Amino acid sequence: HVHFFSFLLQVIVTKIFCLADDVSNKYFPEDFMFGTATAAYQIEGAWNEDGKGENIWDNYTHGHPELVTDNSNGDVACDSYHKYKEDVELLKDLGVQHYRFSIAWSRILPTGDADVINEAGVAYYRNLITLLRENNIQPMITMYHWDLPQALQDQGGWLDEFIVDKFEEYARVLFRLFGDQVTYWFTFNEPKQTCLLGYEYGSNAPGIKEPGIASYQCSHNVLKSHARAWHIYDDEFRSTQNGKVSIVIDSNWFEPNSDSEEDQTAAETKRQFVFGWYANAIFHGDYPEIMKTRIAKRSELEGFNQSRLPEFTEDEIAYIKGTHDYIGVNFYTSSLIKAIDEPDIDTPTYDKDCGISEFTSPDWPDSGTSWLKITPFGIRKQLNWVSKTYNNPDIVITENGVSDIDSSNLDDEIRINYYRDYLSNLRDAIDDGVKVFGYTTWSLMDDFEWMTGYTQKFGLYSVDFSSPNRTRTPKSSAAYYKKGDKYTLFSR
Ligand code: NOJ
Repeated sequence: HVHFFSFLLQVIVTKIFCLADDVSNKYFPEDFMFGTATAAYQIEGAWNEDGKGENIWDNYTHGHPELVTDNSNGDVACDSYHKYKEDVELLKDLGVQHYRFSIAWSRILPTGDADVINEAGVAYYRNLITLLRENNIQPMITMYHWDLPQALQDQGGWLDEFIVDKFEEYARVLFRLFGDQVTYWFTFNEPKQTCLLGYEYGSNAPGIKEPGIASYQCSHNVLKSHARAWHIYDDEFRSTQNGKVSIVIDSNWFEPNSDSEEDQTAAETKRQFVFGWYANAIFHGDYPEIMKTRIAKRSELEGFNQSRLPEFTEDEIAYIKGTHDYIGVNFYTSSLIKAIDEPDIDTPTYDKDCGISEFTSPDWPDSGTSWLKITPFGIRKQLNWVSKTYNNPDIVITENGVSDIDSSNLDDEIRINYYRDYLSNLRDAIDDGVKVFGYTTWSLMDDFEWMTGYTQKFGLYSVDFSSPNRTRTPKSSAAYYKKGDKYTLFSR
């Protein structure tokens, strides 16, 4: 009897503590930043107004309308160039602490030449930043979210090293004009997508297809440009401004397909090939060893006399190393990774350089987008991996979101569930010891989703693209994000 009662007591006590633990553990720290995001080409419109120069997306969508699912473009988009005051009202209503948006390079420097500044463009961003700050919303600025001035593309774009000087000049202009008002800077959004979609697969602007070579070359110049901008800030602005400068890296969580050692190693190799490609460079100065070895070996097999992966010199390694004050992570989904032997290289999902096959589980729920399976567990694993691999840096989730299967539905339960489950896992990552200090939904509103045009909707607000007024209407998820939710146990 005594044993039984002591056992019962133990169960009751554990239960009480567990419950208490569950509840208190799920609240976010007081100073945790909740925000939402957009990007210039996806929302601004006004593509040729007030002195803005043409960029690669203007050029690409005008030249090849058939390549965009609904033959659309960002000429008007959400018309945020004219409606930014209304956008700030939406942000105020959401009660967010920060707003991540990007600056259109060609709105500030129409031809990419830093001697020719477009004052109307400067005024637009200055007004936006001022209004945000007046409302206690921190601007979080991306300098490059895929819209290169066309004039710079005509000179070689990201494939030519001249771009590093151009990016330096652009960064200096931005720090000088806005740096006293901005704490959170990001040089690049998703360098991998910039380079892979734009210069390797050619599905995004500028539509260049050079498999196996161009994305490595592009990334090399992107990383040098990033490092240059960070150093410009460090040398010329840090003593008088309070900003932090870093890069936004996109990530999937790569889960091994089995417990086998081969699959575990393959998944880690893939993480290094995707996130490590950029993170290893800015944290340690160079590409991951596994990337260097594998690509060199494959290049030799293919008859190249040097590796397709360019090399950094010793000086460059020293210069790139440590160019981060924090790190931005975009996270949406996960995939399964299987080690694969060379004879299988006809498998369509085979990534040759990396030596793996990538696919998803039929158990993971679908979203409206083929590449996005709903995998809340992945955000916790990815955050832990980033934290462990790069010595526990300060992290902000710079994008997380989902597109609807039924895009006309304002009652977007899928998005509410997605945010609740991902946020709950993110909260667990904080308990795991990950220093993640902010979370940013993608997106504030439905917008131009690149090659899928206006057919993929990620917004907390829907936008009526058929009305000249581009009317914004809150979805149920906007109310959810504003309040938190008693079931999620996250609160501000
Ligand atoms: C990442 C990109 O940064 C953003 O521009 C895009 O709209 C979202 N993913 C959704 O695909």
